[in-house]
Amino acid sequence: MARLRLGVMISGRGSNLQALIDACQGLAFPAEIACVISNVRGVYGIERARAAGLPTVVIPHKGYPSREAFEADLTRVLYAHGVDLVCNAGFMRILTPSFFEHWPDRVINIHPSLLPAFPGLKTHERVLAAGCRFTGCTVHFSRPEVDAGPIIVQAAVPVLQSDTPETLAARVLAEEHRIYPMAVRWLAEGRVQLDGERAIVAEPDIAETALINPAG
Ligand code: GRF
Repeated sequence: MARLRLGVMISGRGSNLQALIDACQGLAFPAEIACVISNVRGVYGIERARAAGLPTVVIPHKGYPSREAFEADLTRVLYAHGVDLVCNAGFMRILTPSFFEHWPDRVINIHPSLLPAFPGLKTHERVLAAGCRFTGCTVHFSRPEVDAGPIIVQAAVPVLQSDTPETLAARVLAEEHRIYPMAVRWLAEGRVQLDGERAIVAEPDIAETALINPAG
């Protein structure tokens, strides 16, 4: 069966990109990375993609008169690489409705909180300030509103009293790297359906999602 072709969009260090690269190297993994796009020059994620032998394209948003013009070029490049699914992985640009019109239910994102709690930036600082006992990460279908859209998979981690934003970010990031490939696999296997704005996963791997404490 043909593998789902991913267009991964990044703006930075690309550790989630790396998790997708590693997953796609598995022979049985049902997706492959068709191209990696960065809107920022010189970021480490682009080096990771090159090291993996993947096509990379840098499209600096600053040179464009409007968001729509920038996004038209994103779409052109994604189409040119035969992309089926756009995976935002630390891509720090807001996308307008016109981009989504080209990619209906074909854009996903990873966010370092248990959405719909804590959309936006400085997530871990805000989780600590609120005194939350748990946080986590979410892979979701993207919508034009920031960090909104049907949830595909989440993982939860405890918040420790001794945590700093950095220690909490590291604990959450390890889970991000686990659930992003999982969500892509479920999508590639056709196991994710939308019921309105709710995503239903056929036969999710409960043991893998580890949302339930096995000792509990
Ligand atoms: C991750 O925490 C992701 O959830 C958020 O931005 C960060 C990107 O990190 N959207 P990386 O570039 O994948 O290492």
